[in-house]
Amino acid sequence: MVLISGWRPHLGQQAFLASEAAVRVLACGRRWGKTEVIAAEIARALLSNAPKQVLLVAPSVEQAALGFERAFAFLQRLGACPTVRRTPAPTLCLGDSKLWARPAARGGMLLRGRKAHLIIVDEAAYVPESVVLETLMPMLADTGGKLALVSTPRGKNYFYRLYRQGQEDGVRIWSMRSPSWHNPLLSPTMLQMQASMMSARQFQVEYGAQFLDETGQVFRTEWVDRALLLRRDTEGLVVAGVDWARSRDYTALAVLRGAREGAQLLLIRRWQGLSWSEQVEIVVQHLRLYNPIRVLCDRTGLGDPLLEALQASGIPHAEGVVFTRAFKQNLIENLALMLEQGRLQLLPDPELLRELHHFEATPTERGARLQGGGGVHDDMVIALALAAWALPELERGAVRTSGQKRNG
Ligand SMILES: Nc1ncnc2c1ncn2[C@@H]1O[C@H](COP(=O)(O)OP(=O)(O)O)[C@@H](O)[C@H]1O
Ligand SMILES: [Mg+2]
Repeated sequence: MVLISGWRPHLGQQAFLASEAAVRVLACGRRWGKTEVIAAEIARALLSNAPKQVLLVAPSVEQAALGFERAFAFLQRLGACPTVRRTPAPTLCLGDSKLWARPAARGGMLLRGRKAHLIIVDEAAYVPESVVLETLMPMLADTGGKLALVSTPRGKNYFYRLYRQGQEDGVRIWSMRSPSWHNPLLSPTMLQMQASMMSARQFQVEYGAQFLDETGQVFRTEWVDRALLLRRDTEGLVVAGVDWARSRDYTALAVLRGAREGAQLLLIRRWQGLSWSEQVEIVVQHLRLYNPIRVLCDRTGLGDPLLEALQASGIPHAEGVVFTRAFKQNLIENLALMLEQGRLQLLPDPELLRELHHFEATPTERGARLQGGGGVHDDMVIALALAAWALPELERGAVRTSGQKRNG
């Protein structure tokens, strides 16, 4: 199969490109070549004789831009000269054909009202079900267009159900599962290194492309998916949680508005490789935008310097907490309960969703050990849990819990 000179799809990619099914579901591991095959598929569609409206959707702006840029590069290699616009959002025109790359943010609000001949969703298991089923699929109705969902698995959500349907049907819905090592270009050393850095379960999901059930998983996929679709325009106070980076990990910041009875995630970010002073600086920069009444920071093993630096930089409401096993348990249980009971609206940040998905409770002699486990970080989860803990109980009457030490 020659699509693009000098580019040869591997066997798995060939199978995907050869299928003519209306819906294709491709579940594979990291570094399999998902974004690559998506870009090839887009280039092929844009170069076909009939004009095509192609939409590339991904959980985040950055992820959507990756596929967009690779499709653009393929088109250039093929000698095509598309016109490209990157702001406000990536758009490419080639003759009468057009490609948009868009994030699935805000429940797909930005996507409504279009028609498309081909819709491709990169990291589809991280895009809320309703965006795919209720927003994207109808866009194909008039054109008889095609849908392709490509992703690493994330539990047994809608992506899994469509995968299963493909295994049973195979005509209207085509599906395939393929681990990372089916990409012949991937080095076994790299795979071995990844395996040694992760829990076995994480490796099975992220590289083995397995749909595992929820044993050991603290935050159920359905709670998280529902939390992405909640529409809360909460009034009320703003609080934040900070997890400082220690060695290899990330500094994470979460900002919430509302109360424990109902809250909304306003911001979740993480940064890696910063010095202590840079960490403080970037956290302060972001906190200033939100003016939180309470900021909880994990000060376990760090002492007071970072906290004092925050306070000295105009964040007077910063409090440090030391993680004991019992406190961590309470913190995580509170977050899990808020999600289970639909009291927290999340943002579809793919890294946050990945961290939530892999957050495990491992039974030990001294009770459950709660963590991201192995190589998948849990910094965003901890920052989020700290922010959730900092929320006042009730929205109304501005019940201030700040100043009260709840640690322990
Ligand atoms: N058919 C191919 N030919 C050449 N390189 C490829 C091919 N498929 C994937 N790659 C390379 O393998 C790496 C992983 O591909 P990528 O599409 O980013 O994987 P994924 O999206 O599955 O994580 C990239 O460096 C990509 O350029
Ligand atoms: Mg990719």
